[in-house]
Amino acid sequence: MTEKLQVYKCEICGNIVEVLHTGVGELVCCGQPMTLQEEKTDDVTTEKHVPYIEKTDDGVKVRIGQNATHPMEQKHYIEWIEIIVDGKAYRQFLNPGDAPEAVFAIEGQNITAREYCNVHGLWKG
Ligand SMILES: [Fe+2]
Repeated sequence: MTEKLQVYKCEICGNIVEVLHTGVGELVCCGQPMTLQEEKTDDVTTEKHVPYIEKTDDGVKVRIGQNATHPMEQKHYIEWIEIIVDGKAYRQFLNPGDAPEAVFAIEGQNITAREYCNVHGLWKG
């Protein structure tokens, strides 16, 4: 049984999918079950993977992380930053060399953010 917005990865080919609609079936890729990516979290002031959410004049800014900047190298980088604002999902895809941050030109009250590091997985802030 899946849950909406869960993220699954294929350990063989690297496919990553996000669930948009819950189902009872098991997600399979390359002939084996995909691995659920657990949402990790930690102290945002010290852990460089935790998304740090700020409201700015331009909208909602998310940095990875608050005080220590996450690397954006070819072998280790933030692939995307996603925010859920009042039931709407927004995602910024990133590439090596980019800043590990995203600005979403929106307003809202209930904001959560997630990011996916290609080495250290899924983090929530
Ligand atoms: Fe990382």
